[in-house]
Amino acid sequence: MDCFRITGGVRLLGRVRASGSKNAALPIMAAALLVDGPITLKRVPDLADVNTLALLLGQLGVEVKRDSDGNLRIATVDPTPTKADYDLVRRMRASFCVLGPLVAKRGRGVVSLPGGCNIGTRPVDLHLAGLSALGAEVRIEHGYVIAAAKRLRGADINLRGPFGPTVTGTANVMSAATLAVGRTVIRGAATEPEIVDLGNFLIAMGAQIFGLGTETIEIIGVDELQPTQYRIIPDRIEVGTLLLAGAITGGCVTVEEARPGHLAAVLAALAATGADIDCRADNVTVRAAGRPRPTNIRARPYPGVPTDLQAQFMALLSLSTGESLISDSVFADRFMQVAELNRLGARIKRSGSSATVRGVRELSGASVMASDLRASAALVLAGLAAERETIVRRIYHLDRGYQRLEQKLAELGARILRERDQEAFLPARHLVGPQLVR
Ligand code: UD1
Repeated sequence: MDCFRITGGVRLLGRVRASGSKNAALPIMAAALLVDGPITLKRVPDLADVNTLALLLGQLGVEVKRDSDGNLRIATVDPTPTKADYDLVRRMRASFCVLGPLVAKRGRGVVSLPGGCNIGTRPVDLHLAGLSALGAEVRIEHGYVIAAAKRLRGADINLRGPFGPTVTGTANVMSAATLAVGRTVIRGAATEPEIVDLGNFLIAMGAQIFGLGTETIEIIGVDELQPTQYRIIPDRIEVGTLLLAGAITGGCVTVEEARPGHLAAVLAALAATGADIDCRADNVTVRAAGRPRPTNIRARPYPGVPTDLQAQFMALLSLSTGESLISDSVFADRFMQVAELNRLGARIKRSGSSATVRGVRELSGASVMASDLRASAALVLAGLAAERETIVRRIYHLDRGYQRLEQKLAELGARILRERDQEAFLPARHLVGPQLVR
């Protein structure tokens, strides 16, 4: 297991390039199941989650290779398998995105129920309701969802749940509906840029989709889709994280090949903390000095501040000059970072689906444990600003969704090293003090 050793207190300065979007790449890779011919995907980030999905697609008879230019080449070699095993689905929930394409193209999908994860219970009821509405027979047996249909039929479907639209649910149902007979209308659809990107990829393959980016998406089914080449959008969560890294260190950071238009609420929230923001066509610069001003953040579905940046904002605001309220209306329990940020000297108190952050003058380096992908990023940001040394353990969470984050931060001047975490391999009897509490 690797860890990061960070020596805090260095202002980040310079330019860095955004990678492709993880959350766009995953459902797009899954949607490659809908077509027989080869697909080429450009700007697919090199991440653990992408590799996990490539393994799963391999089990499903789809070959995924990275060519010498870094593009992913995806081709079906055996169109008969329909089962996605628990071992891979439990590693990554987005694996569930293969269900819709499997039923639509192969007439049957058997996909393990993903189960809970560190940020909440995360049901898939809306995915299943959507596929049922398209005419699939759906049942659950021995922890697996079995969905089957000779041919899906268009339907009028509402995918809005109690916490808003579902992103991967919209991906699953929209992908499946491209091959259904007739017209499908998805109401309460997710409007996230990653869903628009998936829709554009499906359109590039010949799908007929209207209303992308709005809450009502209309799909007219076609008999088959064609192979294509497609370039994935930049990762707005990575861009936001890098900008927040610039801000928390009082630095000046430009992220290139970004799409500032996807980050309006994030940039507004950063500006509210006193940072200067400069947007160009495809790059964005943050310039910060001194402690941030307090501001309230409410994570919401797009176009709000994404829940995937809530923890990183919390790290920034832990150093503010006053009190901020942070709430998450998408994942009410997503506050695993609070206890670890407090170990670095932050003063954060959680109450239900929100947390009060009372700014402190400085954070002090310590050894902390990553609990999930975005909480890990928050700990790295805090470590960059903290006095002396911070060790962030269990960064395999971080590697799921950030392509070599430490290299990008180091390009900006951060003192950050990836190391093998020796303590992770010590037998328990060699551990003393707080390390025993795991
Ligand atoms: C996706 C993103 C994740 C992001 C999240 C919210 C991917 C691969 N992952 O996750 O990074 O944090 O969107 O922007 O794109 N819900 C239901 N029933 C369902 C499905 C969801 O009640 O069937 C609830 C969830 O518990 C949650 C809310 O709806 O409270 C939104 O979840 P959803 O948009 O589905 O998240 P994911 O697609 O899993």
